[in-house]
Amino acid sequence: MAILLDPAGYGHSPEAWLASFQRELPDMEIRLWPDSPAPEEIEFVIAVRHDPALLATYKNLRAVLAMGAGVEQYTSPGMPDVPVVRLEEPSMSSEMAAYVTHWVVHFQKRMDVHRDNQARPVWQTEPYTAADHYPVGILGFGRIGKRIGGVLHDLGFPINAWSRTGNFEPWAESFAGPEELGGFLSASAAVVNVLPSTKATRKLMDADRFAQCRPDALFINLGRGATVDETALLAALESGQIGNAVLDVTDPEPMDLNNPLWSHPNVRITPHVAGFTVIGPASNVIAANIRRILAGEEPFPLVERGRGY
Ligand code: NAP
Ligand code: GLV
Repeated sequence: MAILLDPAGYGHSPEAWLASFQRELPDMEIRLWPDSPAPEEIEFVIAVRHDPALLATYKNLRAVLAMGAGVEQYTSPGMPDVPVVRLEEPSMSSEMAAYVTHWVVHFQKRMDVHRDNQARPVWQTEPYTAADHYPVGILGFGRIGKRIGGVLHDLGFPINAWSRTGNFEPWAESFAGPEELGGFLSASAAVVNVLPSTKATRKLMDADRFAQCRPDALFINLGRGATVDETALLAALESGQIGNAVLDVTDPEPMDLNNPLWSHPNVRITPHVAGFTVIGPASNVIAANIRRILAGEEPFPLVERGRGY
């Protein structure tokens, strides 16, 4: 019985990932895709993404261990009925929180204006809203959203949190479900989207939702591109309803080269780098879940197929 590893060059070379997992699981046979063992020998698949049609042919497969937090690639109809374990790893959440803090502070303190002033060159102060009057709303208040909110709360920003179930943290104003989304958006100077891509979140941020944002709001998307109607976002930027947008994720990736968002003066685009899977801690967490399964325990966090995350 063997582990099939398909890291697709995720942040590090495939060989570096193999060496890391071999250190964590010295007693197990680990094969690096496409050097696959016979399908019936594969017990675990560790992969960024691996074709569900292939997974369905691994008849003794016990679990798929995702190498990232997003798991939409493992929720398609052809996916075999095996447990899928998401990657929950604190250093990735911290990376995401640092990314969001950078951009929130950048626009709250009007660094965009100072950058333009320097180019002219002009030495001029610019009034800005203090953190305690700059509420930040977090769309998707799971493991990563809570870490982002916690860091910004420590810096003095009021936090609004929107989720499906209304996850409670004493330092955040909680909003839940579609009926409370409008109130959440209108209460937030910056909206940070860290939602997973599911049927229910597809193009959630559409023209109607952007119209519910505060005029001149900052919109940051580091969840998934599919959760935003990018045409509606462009229109909202053109009308000034959205003041600035930061996009770490787009749909598709990379974004079409003709998409006007590329050259919009109020849009910053980064190539899906807000957070990444850190090799040491990620191998450790994934290996611990494999050991849990081998010991007859439940790995975590398990993807709930019905809800899509
Ligand atoms: P998570 O712990 O599963 O949290 C997901 C959150 O989204 C939960 O609060 C959940 O609500 C909420 N949610 C899901 N569907 C919803 C809906 N229909 N309506 C309202 N709220 C909904 O996931 P995570 O670890 O925080 O990761 C979130 C996402 O970040 C990943 O799926 C991935 O797409 C993205 N990501 C991006 C990068 C990057 O580099 N850009 C890196 C890592 C992850 P409940 O709390 O009520 O369940
Ligand atoms: C990256 O986007 C991830 O889902 O881990």
